[in-house]
Amino acid sequence: MATVSLDAFLAEIDRLRIDATAALSAAVDAPALEAARVEFLGAKSGRLKSIQKLLGGLAADDRPAGGRHFNELKQAVSDALEGAQQRLADGGESIEPIDVTLPGDPPRLGHLHPITQTIRRVQEIMSRLGFESVDGPEVEDQWHNFEALAIGAEHPARDPLDNFYLAVAQGTDPLLLRSQTSTVQIRVMERRKPPLRIVSLGRVYRPDTADATHYPMFHQVEGLLVEPGTTMAHLKSVLRMFASSFLGGDVHVRFRPSFFPFTEPSVEVDMEWGGRWIEMGGAGMVDPAVLEAVGYDPDSVSGFAFGLGVERIAARRYGVADIRDFYRNDVRFLSQF
Ligand code: DAH
Repeated sequence: MATVSLDAFLAEIDRLRIDATAALSAAVDAPALEAARVEFLGAKSGRLKSIQKLLGGLAADDRPAGGRHFNELKQAVSDALEGAQQRLADGGESIEPIDVTLPGDPPRLGHLHPITQTIRRVQEIMSRLGFESVDGPEVEDQWHNFEALAIGAEHPARDPLDNFYLAVAQGTDPLLLRSQTSTVQIRVMERRKPPLRIVSLGRVYRPDTADATHYPMFHQVEGLLVEPGTTMAHLKSVLRMFASSFLGGDVHVRFRPSFFPFTEPSVEVDMEWGGRWIEMGGAGMVDPAVLEAVGYDPDSVSGFAFGLGVERIAARRYGVADIRDFYRNDVRFLSQF
């Protein structure tokens, strides 16, 4: 008699239990059930019989445990056979009664997309600072996207390769998907007189190749304040208050000299939070040429403007390393927010 370890013996028992229950419950008619019965419980060469023979190969100490498991298996297979016979006698598949008093499966509740959550939060913080939320169109003309913002005809930002121009009839003014939310500054100032405090959050489009920090469609926060006596100090205070509310805790804001056609002076805005400086966008004092373009008198009003990347501030706040994750629509990612 070949020796066999208790582990190997129990593994055989498990395999047989799985095979037997599967075969017996799958039998659709009497001949199929009989075939399954012979295969497992057949007196001469059934698989149960062969396992029983292995019992003798167990070490003497293991034999009582082996015998007990074997008996349980035999009982389980006999029960399964009886159940299958009953099922066929009842005329096939028995239907599980439904207990209508059991609690149902709760529907999975969704929530707002993290970018939408971020937009709402920015709007809420800015409204506490007195900034009204306004919208502008995503399809823009050259005046609002460029000219009124002092971005002249020769400026590289107007290059067709850097913008999504739309096909329009010959001889009509070209339209494009706006490349920045600064357009909304113009749209609001054209309609209203100072004092003004507005923010506008929305989509902008640029034909960039998608990578961890770029996407051909993204969102910006545009801020504009026009009031007599406005200075860069007001700009920095507003950005610092915003950043502290949004990120939580002590956030430092740093300005680096820069250039934008529609602000003078212009700065890049960096924020330090959790020990790391991150570039968040641009800002500056509204250029007198822009105030003139909308019919304001640059000698009597001044203002500041800023533009921040929504994906950037959201990624910073939530610790997201790749902004493409925001748009993959993978619920495993999105459900974390
Ligand atoms: N519109 C600029 C961009 O998309 C960002 C910007 C810079 C907005 C300076 C502003 C500003 O309002 O003052 O790169």
